[in-house]
Amino acid sequence: MARALSEFVSRKALAVGEALRGDRRLAPYRSHAQKLPAPTYARYTAITNRLYPSARSQPMPAHLLPVSRRRFLAASASTVAALGHSDLLGSDSQVNPNAWALLSDTHLLSQRSIDLHYDNNRTAMEKRATLVATNFERTARQVLASVETPAGLVLSGDCVHVGGKEEYELLARKLALLETIPIHLAMGNHDHRDNFSNVFREQTQSDDRVLLENRHVSVLKSQHANLVLLDSLTMQNADRPVKGPGRLGKKQLAWFEAVLDSQSDKPAVVILHHNVNPSDEYRQRTGEEDFIVSSADPFRGFKGGLEDTDRFLALLHARPHVKAVVFGHMHQFQIFKSRKTFFISMPPVGYTFGPKEAVGWIRMLLRDSGVTLEVQTLDTEHARHQQRIDLSWS
Ligand SMILES: [Fe+2]
Repeated sequence: MARALSEFVSRKALAVGEALRGDRRLAPYRSHAQKLPAPTYARYTAITNRLYPSARSQPMPAHLLPVSRRRFLAASASTVAALGHSDLLGSDSQVNPNAWALLSDTHLLSQRSIDLHYDNNRTAMEKRATLVATNFERTARQVLASVETPAGLVLSGDCVHVGGKEEYELLARKLALLETIPIHLAMGNHDHRDNFSNVFREQTQSDDRVLLENRHVSVLKSQHANLVLLDSLTMQNADRPVKGPGRLGKKQLAWFEAVLDSQSDKPAVVILHHNVNPSDEYRQRTGEEDFIVSSADPFRGFKGGLEDTDRFLALLHARPHVKAVVFGHMHQFQIFKSRKTFFISMPPVGYTFGPKEAVGWIRMLLRDSGVTLEVQTLDTEHARHQQRIDLSWS
């Protein structure tokens, strides 16, 4: 197969890039592309990159405000109001400015992605596409049914499953279900930063401020805490994200440090996709984690998370106003404390890995001196459903 593709690339030159991306009959070639000899794979990548340049767009913090979502529905196209540092407290009297809906790992999956990437397990993936869409809709209904409307909703990555443009169009349609709630998104390892940006910046009302080049970061200010959204997605190439670990990188860590230092008058809650993954040496130096809520299924361990965790944690631990870190990726709800910082591993909206975990989301209520987390599982019989956990800042 690799040799056949090699000949195909040579013969068809530029056309192959387009064909590999868009023609379902060529899916088998695509799935074997990474087994090609290095020079041929490099040529394949060069061709596809030339056809689909990824550096064209600059990711910017995308905040989906209600008017944007209504326009999206009306025009069947994507719209976003993209702002810089934002003060997005709701003005409606029913809105609780201290309440936030936290969601993670929605993994919305389109039929086109299944056609392109899952020829061998089509039936299972079609089932999953239905499951994640249903779970998203049920979650949206639960969020809307809250007695008080949250000031905003943060989705901490793996918004979609493969990262294709049409998946972000699907995501935009689903987000429109959330009516008046402002929405803020982070990138996960299943996301595609450029496809995301391109879909959500069409017809944009943006001021085009870029907080950090090639990363999708945000700072959301609220009464009791600032929420800092980081971008831990690392791309394998222009086409596909790495399926696994993430990295913040030196530039983002420097930006993060500057943000923390310039806003040290208020507690900070940091939100990113990948779980922390401290080295043994770091843990020996700083001490083991203190588990406050243990996972329902056996703990899957720290592996596969943030590669530059030690540097990230060193920044946090040197700044006592960082009170909590929220992350997804593990699809496993649990809370632990390391030194004086709480680490909250989010339940997934899309699907769980273990049988005892539940899909769901968290309602976060910020206070002056801490936070209350209300676990909202879709299975209302689950032991965790509506469990309230009070965390006090120390
Ligand atoms: Fe995920």
